[in-house]
Amino acid sequence: MGEVRIKELIKSFGNVTAVNRVSIDCRDGEFLVLLGPSGCGKTTILRTIAGLEEPTEGEIYIDNKLVNDVPPKDRGIAMVFQNYALYPHMTVRENMAFPLKMKKMKKEEIDDRVQKVAKMLEIEKLLDRKPKELSGGQRQRVALGRAVVRNPKVFLMDEPLSNLDAKLRTYMRAELKKLHERIKVTTIYVTHDQVEAMTMATRIALLKDGELQQIGTPSEIYNNPANTFVGGFVGTPPMNFIEGSVKGKTFVSQGIEYDLPEVRMEKEKVILGIRPEDIKISEEGNIEGEVYVVEPLGYEQIITIKIGEELIIVKTSPDIELKVGEKVRISFNPQKIHLFDGETLCAM
Ligand SMILES: Nc1ncnc2c1ncn2[C@@H]1O[C@H](COP(=O)(O)OP(=O)(O)O)[C@@H](O)[C@H]1O
Ligand SMILES: [Mg+2]
Repeated sequence: MGEVRIKELIKSFGNVTAVNRVSIDCRDGEFLVLLGPSGCGKTTILRTIAGLEEPTEGEIYIDNKLVNDVPPKDRGIAMVFQNYALYPHMTVRENMAFPLKMKKMKKEEIDDRVQKVAKMLEIEKLLDRKPKELSGGQRQRVALGRAVVRNPKVFLMDEPLSNLDAKLRTYMRAELKKLHERIKVTTIYVTHDQVEAMTMATRIALLKDGELQQIGTPSEIYNNPANTFVGGFVGTPPMNFIEGSVKGKTFVSQGIEYDLPEVRMEKEKVILGIRPEDIKISEEGNIEGEVYVVEPLGYEQIITIKIGEELIIVKTSPDIELKVGEKVRISFNPQKIHLFDGETLCAM
């Protein structure tokens, strides 16, 4: 078992509120990602679960047991950090065995566990090397191995891939996902990288300024963002937001008049959200604009279109040929329009 329940957690440092009344239930076996920009409180939440910080208010439960007063070593968790902090004077084998030695485990059992985990992570050949004889990716695997041998109920990982170069990061992302699928240990993973979150998470908890914005599966977060922050944080290029008002069925902004599917209301301040991939450039389009920037990426192109005073970003196939200054027509996929309240910024 490895359920983690965070209940109304508040953590203040002096007059900084790093975490502001956050509640998250992490189920057994889940890969939960805490996602959000730098400074939003992710590390603080993780350190509080680990017992390295004390909550100012609120409770942490592990397997239904209140652990606020349980010391870190007795919580059944293992933490993997961004700087993997291997002991430089020890071999890989000794590094991995170290936490088990501390627990006074028998030598045969330690050897057996280290061997099994090394095999699983494909680092058997590295067991007699020192950390300085390893590449960044190999070190990261050893750090993971050192966490896995302890057989924890919960893994806590704080941006464990952020020190790796882009190519290795993509590779390790897939490796971590495979590892989780194999051992199914509850994992709480911190990142500011929305692609990591989308690709690895069973659920994402998205935070901003210490507050939980939304928790859901990657597809819920992507398809039904709870507010403009969530809509803008996940997806590249980000969702387009157009400020305007709704009169009857029509959304009206400075440059756009758009008939909404089946919405009837009057509202002064509304924000229409539409993702770049949900806009089509075609002659039948009901909105007219002018090509402003063309950015080819090989497999697709990103087109910025100027409509009145608005700049709208569109993703298209690389086959459409467009020139800056050219007049074009676009249409929004009516099923993919998001409306947000212009005051609260929450989905309507
Ligand atoms: N030990 C500390 N003392 C004072 N302020 C802190 C401390 N740890 C974190 N903070 C502040 O709390 C907020 C959240 O930090 P952190 O949890 O590290 O965010 P994240 O991991 O999302 O980047 C930030 O404003 C940070 O400056
Ligand atoms: Mg952090």
